Amino acid sequence: MKDRLPSCAHPRTPTYYIRTFGCQMNAHDSEVIAGLLEQLGYKRASSPETADLILLNTCCVRANAENRLYGHLGNLKPLKEERPDRVIGVCGCFVQQPGEQEKIREEFPHVDLVFGTHNLHRLPALLAQLEETKSRVFELWQEGERVEDLPVQRESPFRAWVNIIYGCNNFCSYCIVPYVRGREQSRRPEKILEEVRALAADGVKEVTLLGQNVNSYGRDLPAGERMDFADLLRLVGEVDGLSRIRFQTSHPKDLSSKLIRQMAAGENVCEHLHLPVQAGSNRVLAAMNRQYTREHYLKLIEELRAAVPGIAITTDIIVGFPGEEEEDFLQTLDLVEKAAFDSAFTFAYSPRKGTKAATLPNQVAPEIRMERLYRLIELVDTLAKKSNKRLEGEVVAVLVEGSSAKREDIYTGYTRTGKQVLFPHPDSDEDLTGREIPVLIEKGLSHTLHGKAVTGRE
Ligand code: 5AD
Ligand code: SF4
Repeated sequence: MKDRLPSCAHPRTPTYYIRTFGCQMNAHDSEVIAGLLEQLGYKRASSPETADLILLNTCCVRANAENRLYGHLGNLKPLKEERPDRVIGVCGCFVQQPGEQEKIREEFPHVDLVFGTHNLHRLPALLAQLEETKSRVFELWQEGERVEDLPVQRESPFRAWVNIIYGCNNFCSYCIVPYVRGREQSRRPEKILEEVRALAADGVKEVTLLGQNVNSYGRDLPAGERMDFADLLRLVGEVDGLSRIRFQTSHPKDLSSKLIRQMAAGENVCEHLHLPVQAGSNRVLAAMNRQYTREHYLKLIEELRAAVPGIAITTDIIVGFPGEEEEDFLQTLDLVEKAAFDSAFTFAYSPRKGTKAATLPNQVAPEIRMERLYRLIELVDTLAKKSNKRLEGEVVAVLVEGSSAKREDIYTGYTRTGKQVLFPHPDSDEDLTGREIPVLIEKGLSHTLHGKAVTGRE
């Protein structure tokens, strides 16, 4: 039929397409959004062009995410013009920044729906409102108790993310997160365990516990239920059926010896820790309000390596923070070398409006930021390659994700230490997806390991 339909009255199953930017918290929020939509009868579309509802789940941690978002929003305009009944929505932490929703309202009239990270559960009501009123719906913030038991449409049948704490109380001086995601709010332990048990019963093998700072888990729980992250990790580890438990992100100032002991004791806790250091100079760390020193950080690394043999340690590093001198940057390079990271996410400092660092004098010139970034990446790559080369000749357990996107005949998966492994399909028709397979590592490059499945002889 050719006639234009009244908006949202779909003669067939409505479809959705979600594009996610940013961190794993956002990726998991998208799984919840997908779960809510599927409960409403929507089905996933393979492209924006074939979707009735297009959602951009946004990030605001660095400026490039922002620029890309406005680019994508602009690109969606023709799709709205082509089918005015199509719903275009924007959600996630970007829209929680002051001023952004006004900008979207004025400059992007093709956007119908805007909601923040605290309003996910309101999506069905907001869609109903949109259909009823036929006018744009903007709903942000709404602090308060998080809504539990939302449906989740997981991306993987055998790996899952579980939120344990929302928000952040730290106010690192460069970071926008506490302003857009609010204060720390720990989920009740019994709710987390209930979710983890259900996941394990559903065949999930690997669970990643998520929070901006998982190490401060539990501080805000009611007195009778008080526990810390190490206690929670022990309880999650006791759930039957999980072979791999991960968590992120950890803050060095809150990483306790008790947690390190629990990582060592918990057999299913993966030998990997993501521990953002951000900078290697004490002067810069203080200006960033990180509340630890380079000496403290390096001591933690030593303690971790002693307690958890073979542990992989990864990090986040920012270069070109306001006031960073060449001398400070050399201290960062020195710390990176001493810590011998397995890999690192490296960022050029990006001023975020509303944060303390954005108002500091002595902002570092963009070309110096980039020059330092390249020097840092070179060192990080060299170290990553070194750590991966050490694995050559070893057999490691790989949880198989499936065939590589580029090559049908190559499997891709991850080691317990979080490294990506590629190996050819062994000679058998059996699908290894979702299984943990021993793989002999033949080549260690800076971003991937290459090997072959060890079959038969176990
Ligand atoms: N500029 C550059 N990098 C930043 N990050 C957070 N805020 C900024 C910023 N303003 C980086 C930090 C953090 C990671 C998620 O993003 O390294 O750990
Ligand atoms: Fe941002 Fe610091 Fe909180 Fe991490 S700990 S989310 S960097 S304020």
